[in-house]
Amino acid sequence: MEYDEVILGRRSIRGYKPDPVPQALIREIVGLAMRAPSSYNSQPWNLYVISGRPLDLIRAGNVERMVAGVPESREFRAGSPFAGRHRERQVGVAKQLFIAMGIAREDKERREDWMLRGFRQFDAPVCVIVTYDRELADSDDTPFDCGALANALVNAAWSRGLGTVINSQGIMQSPVVREAAGIPDHQVIMKSIALGWPEETFPANAVLSERKPIDEAVVFVGFDE
Ligand SMILES: Cc1cc2nc3c(=O)[nH]c(=O)nc-3n(C[C@H](O)[C@H](O)[C@H](O)COP(=O)(O)O)c2cc1C
Repeated sequence: MEYDEVILGRRSIRGYKPDPVPQALIREIVGLAMRAPSSYNSQPWNLYVISGRPLDLIRAGNVERMVAGVPESREFRAGSPFAGRHRERQVGVAKQLFIAMGIAREDKERREDWMLRGFRQFDAPVCVIVTYDRELADSDDTPFDCGALANALVNAAWSRGLGTVINSQGIMQSPVVREAAGIPDHQVIMKSIALGWPEETFPANAVLSERKPIDEAVVFVGFDE
């Protein structure tokens, strides 16, 4: 695939075929992703590629705790709830997804079911947990570097026909993930990425989220001199 085709074609995939993903293919994708730049080449990331029974334990543990109302225990700062234009974008993509899935605003049951899907890692056959080395926790470069890795990974996966969705839902109950994946205390759990073969008939997979105009994000300086 051409670079543009990957970048413009990739979208978050929230419905997967149950087919397994060969370990060799995941190694290839991770190898590409790990070419991501990082601060002073520190490469603060670690990846836990989870499938089979341990992933089922994570799904079950996440759902059980969320349904029981166990408070979230994510290991990253989420900040205040979005407001203004950020909130508008959040609502915008949620609306696109609900319309695609035919989930009505007042349909509490299906909305809850949709939310739980995220805690089940969208029933993907694989989930990648990204952690970072705790001794680098004080630097904002660390989450920045993990983001670079995650972006490279989702695009590398897409170039091989695989879908992904980066998500916080999978790691909101961090003790569940820590135990099932055997993550040591000297690593901090950063993010989860569901991965697998896209189910073409799953309506939400067709949603192409919007982007703000380039001129809203970019200031060109010194070009008219
Ligand atoms: C840091 C981060 C956290 C995310 N968390 C979730 C999540 O918990 N659940 C979910 O369905 N999507 C999640 N997403 C996916 C975003 O909603 C998605 O990337 C965004 O709407 C843009 O859509 P696209 O990926 O299809 O281009 C997350 C993405 C990022 C980068």
